[in-house]
Amino acid sequence: MQILETSRLTLRELHPDDADALSLVLSDPETMRFYPAPFDRPKVEQWIDRQIRRYANNGHGLWGMVLKSSGELVGDCGLTVQEVDGVSEVEIGYHVRRDLWGQGLAAEAARACLDLGFARLPVERIVSLIRPENLPSRRVAEKNGMTVWKEVQWHDLPHLIYAIRRERANSK
Ligand SMILES: CC(C)(COP(=O)(O)OP(=O)(O)OC[C@H]1O[C@@H](n2cnc3c(N)ncnc32)[C@H](O)[C@@H]1OP(=O)(O)O)[C@@H](O)C(=O)NCCC(=O)NCCS
Repeated sequence: MQILETSRLTLRELHPDDADALSLVLSDPETMRFYPAPFDRPKVEQWIDRQIRRYANNGHGLWGMVLKSSGELVGDCGLTVQEVDGVSEVEIGYHVRRDLWGQGLAAEAARACLDLGFARLPVERIVSLIRPENLPSRRVAEKNGMTVWKEVQWHDLPHLIYAIRRERANSK
């Protein structure tokens, strides 16, 4: 199912057949340097299953990022629910295949997900949880008007919580 469209991308629900294409993203050691380890094939399959459960339970999750020009699945971007300091927050997350970094694809997809999130969900803010040393991810958040709200320990590691409030997102 297609979720949204930007000038260069469509975002659609992931399905089990996406495991090959998504492995090129999530099994790449450089892409996954802020995770405990790159994903092996079973982890990629579990990752897809988790998103499919999220679509059913929450109506959203990380969606597949497809390049319109080639039809290739080149990453993911979407909305998930995360517990931060005991509060449920809607988070924007993204991963892009490494050979396509630096072309603005993550920012383009994330912007569209922010708009969709505020349009569909009754939330006053949307966040991104980002390791302080993850400068490209921080830049994506900042390009979309997010600012650092607070720093927390999350999964035992320091994370910056970037946030944008509904009224600010609507005014951009
Ligand atoms: C984070 C990620 C999705 C960004 O994807 P992308 O499509 O390259 O993102 P964009 O092109 O929209 O923006 C990246 C920005 O970071 C900047 N950047 C890249 N490396 C940087 C660095 N070392 N220091 C500072 N800025 C950097 C780019 O110049 C660009 O900013 P600009 O448009 O102002 O020039 C991609 O790097 C990725 O998949 N990383 C691994 C997964 C990950 O960390 N996901 C986020 C988890 S919180």
